[in-house]
Amino acid sequence: MAVPDAFVFDAYGTLFDPLSVTARADALVPGRGAELAKLWRAKQLEYTWLGSLMEARGDFRRVTEQALDYALEALALDLDAKARRELAAAWLELAPYPEAGRALARLAPRPCWILSNGTRAMLDPLVDRSGLRAHVAGVLSVDEVGVYKPSPRVYALACERLALPAARIGFVSSNGWDATGAKACGMTVWWVNRSGAPVERHGPPPDFVVRSLDAVGA
Ligand code: LAC
Repeated sequence: MAVPDAFVFDAYGTLFDPLSVTARADALVPGRGAELAKLWRAKQLEYTWLGSLMEARGDFRRVTEQALDYALEALALDLDAKARRELAAAWLELAPYPEAGRALARLAPRPCWILSNGTRAMLDPLVDRSGLRAHVAGVLSVDEVGVYKPSPRVYALACERLALPAARIGFVSSNGWDATGAKACGMTVWWVNRSGAPVERHGPPPDFVVRSLDAVGA
């Protein structure tokens, strides 16, 4: 298999650790934070898929707020508007995984891009705050194509902007379904399986299964 000419990384859960969302949730609803964060994330992704199928898509910030409202009601938790805003803002302040900077640096001089469901207004401050900016060649949001992952149009956006065929791009995601989406489009895929989850079955498996960003491209 050819070594990729460039790498494209997913953002949430791949370069940026959603753990602080759980921490903030737990501060607001003591003892229920993990449960809330889990349902919130699941519903957030579900709404991206539903919005894409319905061809009536809100942006990722909106979807995140809607998913929070649903999750709170489903778990019979009550938070006022201020607390909801504070919790949703945690997505704007995620820390990078500790190995993210050195993993990106190790792949240089091959360019590393980000391709995410997030809006540019959500992603750019994250990249700046994390200190990863120097290692990132560019940030691509699904908003440019108006549909969420794993639509092939999203992965095609990366091919177009990097001016590379899919097979020359290394795609890296901790989300198994996202790894499958990129593989279905012909990219060379590293699935960062941090939690030891089973491989997704709805499409081709990733080329490499690793436990940390340090093993990408090795
Ligand atoms: C993203 C989601 C899938 O960053 O984590 O696109």
